Amino acid sequence: MRIGVLTGGGDCPGLNAAIRGVAQRAWSLQDEVLGIRHGWAGLLDNGEVNHLSRDDVHGIIQLSGTILGTSRTNPGKREGGLDEVVRNLGRHQIDGLVAIGGDDTLGVAARLAERGVKVVGVPKTIDNDIPHTDFCIGFDTAANVVAEALDRLQGTARSHMRTMVVEVMGREAGWLAIVGGMAGGADFIAIPEVPVSIDDLVAHVRRRLRSRRFSVVVIAEGTEVIGIEKPPVRPTTIDEFGHVRLSERGIAQRVADHVERITGTETRVTVLGHLQRGGTPTVRDRYMSILVGSAAVDFLHRDMAGSMTAVKGHEIVPVPLSEVAGKTNLVPPQLYEMGSRFFLSMTMSERARRRAAP
Ligand code: F6P
Repeated sequence: MRIGVLTGGGDCPGLNAAIRGVAQRAWSLQDEVLGIRHGWAGLLDNGEVNHLSRDDVHGIIQLSGTILGTSRTNPGKREGGLDEVVRNLGRHQIDGLVAIGGDDTLGVAARLAERGVKVVGVPKTIDNDIPHTDFCIGFDTAANVVAEALDRLQGTARSHMRTMVVEVMGREAGWLAIVGGMAGGADFIAIPEVPVSIDDLVAHVRRRLRSRRFSVVVIAEGTEVIGIEKPPVRPTTIDEFGHVRLSERGIAQRVADHVERITGTETRVTVLGHLQRGGTPTVRDRYMSILVGSAAVDFLHRDMAGSMTAVKGHEIVPVPLSEVAGKTNLVPPQLYEMGSRFFLSMTMSERARRRAAP
């Protein structure tokens, strides 16, 4: 086969290991491999596609980013864009495509599959919000970055008796906040799935300052904080898939300002931002990325195109792209509730129950 591989959406550690997995498996089956540059942009008329050589994928497992480049280009957004992609796949004689990406990239892949393109999706996102899979490339490394940042912030928070408000990525799903936050010993974690009232947050910080004299609060960028004014959205910060650049909301800063004003204690803000998307991939991200990349090639050979390489326990199984596209794997309420026993002195539900009690 002549296999094309692309990476789309936000970059993250582990992508290069996946590309290597694709290439090595393909070569072992006597396939040719073409690298499509900068996501779907590489398959539009002025895009770039080149042969991948053994040298191209040599020594890249531990490198962050993606050697193919990436973008948030949405061919479905432009007039005739999907037809252009199909035409260019034909022009390059690509008969099997591996699309490594998150919800947006996999959504485009699903639409191409409907048009008869032989495409296999590989799940990637530090947000960990792709449904039907236990593994998304990049999440493990990003969660480690969050935990390590909190380890560093605990000491300085304690020394200065301050409240540290740490903003982590997570548009709709709070996986990074809850996993990284619990591992790093945050005493309050706010996630997009569970709107939090600023009064509850302040009450928590007050209690915590009384008992420990410092506090470390983790907040996912997409969290709704009731009682704080929402900033207006600038049209220039909306990408081709319709996503607002959430870092511009400055949610951590606005929470910290409020806490400082109401409690009269010092707060500091750390926005982890794109640090979460960089650095050396963890062992899990390297190992699993190689496996899902190489499984994608097997899926193409075994007539399992139109699917995603989903990890379920120790197996990699095909899940139809149509069942993945447009769906989000959110943190289940019971998991947040269970986690909150560890990071809150009193859980939200306990408080609600006490308030309701006669
Ligand atoms: O989609 C993954 C993600 O890391 C989100 O958590 C975050 O909101 C977004 O990417 C940031 O993207 P960009 O690189 O375009 O600023």
